[in-house]
Amino acid sequence: MKKLILYLILGLVLFGLPLIAYTSEEYNGASKCKVCHIKTFKSWQETKHAKAMESLLPGAATEAKKKAKLDPAKDYSNDPVCMQCHTTGNNPAFPGIQCEACHGPGVKYSAMSIMNKSKWAENPDGQRKLAIEAGLVIKPEEKNCKVCHNEKSPTFKPFDFKARYELIKHPK
Ligand code: HEC
Ligand code: HEC
Ligand code: HEC
Ligand code: HEC
Repeated sequence: MKKLILYLILGLVLFGLPLIAYTSEEYNGASKCKVCHIKTFKSWQETKHAKAMESLLPGAATEAKKKAKLDPAKDYSNDPVCMQCHTTGNNPAFPGIQCEACHGPGVKYSAMSIMNKSKWAENPDGQRKLAIEAGLVIKPEEKNCKVCHNEKSPTFKPFDFKARYELIKHPK
């Protein structure tokens, strides 16, 4: 009996800890960014990124699925493989490719002490430095997109950063 408990504890330490570390990754979700970046949020909402979970539903994007040898009648919206790229942080609580999929997990950098309008106006370089140290990717690049836009995607299309970026960029 003692041995069993010991093994249980060992199992928890070995396999439980990475699980906890994973679930505590510090994502806010786009609704948090929305509060202060409303214009960007609204335009993002119209992109395919915001709606990427819809493609996983049965009956959606049937031609693309057939071409990729996927089953158009199947519900893929709980499939852990698809979650990796069709959610943010591999977490169905954050459906679609939200702000933090490109800009980095945001609990730390979106704090009021960092993303603060008056502090930022007074000292933009200093605030920007704090934000970057807290994990903000200010200007996502090709490598940030290729985390998902790669050959592991069943519907992969070669990724030309310049051309594709034009289709999703924020309004000025
Ligand atoms: C409390 C309000 C607030 C929240 C919440 C917030 N931001 Fe910000 N953010 C700001 C302000 C203010 C600035 C400074 C630049 C400005 O005035 O637009 C800024 C700057 C930025 C910048 C850099 C812009 C530059 O000029 O270098 C990025 C990128 C950014 N935010 C993304 C996000 C993301 C992603 C989230 C959600 C995870 C988020 N912000 C949450 C208020 C906020
Ligand atoms: C977290 C994964 C992920 C990241 C990061 C990501 N994308 Fe995507 N992207 C997707 C998925 C999934 C779709 C398909 C959405 C759908 O139609 O269901 C998509 C669709 C698109 C589309 C619309 C389809 C098309 O090709 O016309 C564009 C454009 C695009 N992404 C550009 C980018 C760019 C540029 C970046 C980087 C700045 C980027 N993406 C980062 C996952 C991602
Ligand atoms: C597909 C990747 C991607 C997603 C998703 C994304 N962004 Fe961005 N964002 C970028 C890129 C790339 C830039 C750099 C723009 C430039 O410098 O031309 C940027 C720039 C910004 C900036 C700097 C000022 C500006 O508008 O150029 C802010 C603020 C910002 N993003 C906020 C957000 C918020 C808030 C969300 C979610 C509602 C979001 N982003 C979603 C890729 C993304
Ligand atoms: C490695 C990341 C990744 C994985 C894993 C992934 N996708 Fe995607 N998915 C993408 C990207 C990126 C796009 C945008 C199309 C492209 O590849 O350029 C996309 C687009 C799609 C589309 C829309 C295609 C269109 O042309 O309208 C469907 C449908 C889709 N994926 C279904 C799935 C299903 C089902 C799974 C799981 C079996 C899955 N994806 C797994 C990254 C991924």
